[in-house]
Amino acid sequence: MGKVDTGMKCTAEEVSVAEETVQTVDHLQKVKDFHNADATRYRAERYRSDTCEGLAYVTRRQMVLSLADIEPGRVLDVGCGPGILTRDLIHNGHVVYSADLSMEMLRRARETAGGEGASVPHFVVSDASKICFSGNRMDMVLSIGLMCYVKDHGGVLSEIRRVLKPGGVSVIQINNIRWPVLYRTLIPLYRRLKAVTAGKNYDGLDFSFNFSSSKEFLGDIARSGLEVLRVEHYDFRIPFVDILLPRLSVALGKLMFKNRSRRICRLFAHGLLIKVKK
Ligand SMILES: C[S@@+](CC[C@H](N)C(=O)[O-])C[C@H]1O[C@@H](n2cnc3c(N)ncnc32)[C@H](O)[C@@H]1O
Repeated sequence: MGKVDTGMKCTAEEVSVAEETVQTVDHLQKVKDFHNADATRYRAERYRSDTCEGLAYVTRRQMVLSLADIEPGRVLDVGCGPGILTRDLIHNGHVVYSADLSMEMLRRARETAGGEGASVPHFVVSDASKICFSGNRMDMVLSIGLMCYVKDHGGVLSEIRRVLKPGGVSVIQINNIRWPVLYRTLIPLYRRLKAVTAGKNYDGLDFSFNFSSSKEFLGDIARSGLEVLRVEHYDFRIPFVDILLPRLSVALGKLMFKNRSRRICRLFAHGLLIKVKK
């Protein structure tokens, strides 16, 4: 049978847009599947003080809450996971909107949130690159542990800016990567070592993280029209030493955290919290 000519022709540009859309949908699905499976273990496995990685989550949470020091208002926690911050935000008098791509994460968040009457948090399934709220609505937006899963940082930053009221603030977490290409190359080795030494399971991580350097990310922030108010460093560890000598690394990590204003310590910070204003 001969070819049927439908008369429809796509330009090279249309084909490449279509391919990009398919890749984005595929990426979102993989991220969602991973977090749906991770929801039951996330809090217990990540938030612990006996490993460098765990300590990073614990200190990050404390620092976010101290940076989120605004008067009670409307707060959107985008990529809320199992509601790590929800209870504290409610306790501080905020009306909380918790958004996530993963239904299972939201289910966990709802179970642990508690709250009564007006303080009941609102849970919504939403992709951070198309936040399902109208503009100029939020006093604060938190984006913690989210950016590494997002393909287009600029797109999410514009969404954060859009939903913020004028003068509203956002606390955004990123991984502090100086050389993203080198980092990506070393990830497989790092994971293999971690699986062998600490039995860490990387099942389901069949998508790539989006790590940009802090310089690139600060550029994205400037282009999105947000103003940087403060940058805080956390998650102090010496690459590979944290796997080979875990106990010593936890002690060193705590010491560097205490001295985090020093330049030498900041060289070993794997995490950044950036407070911005609209
Ligand atoms: C590492 S967890 C962070 C959870 C929590 N914010 C915390 O402080 O521990 C990342 C969360 O971001 C969510 N996520 C990833 N990509 C997303 C997207 N495009 N839109 C909304 N949520 C997303 C995941 O489902 C996951 O629950």
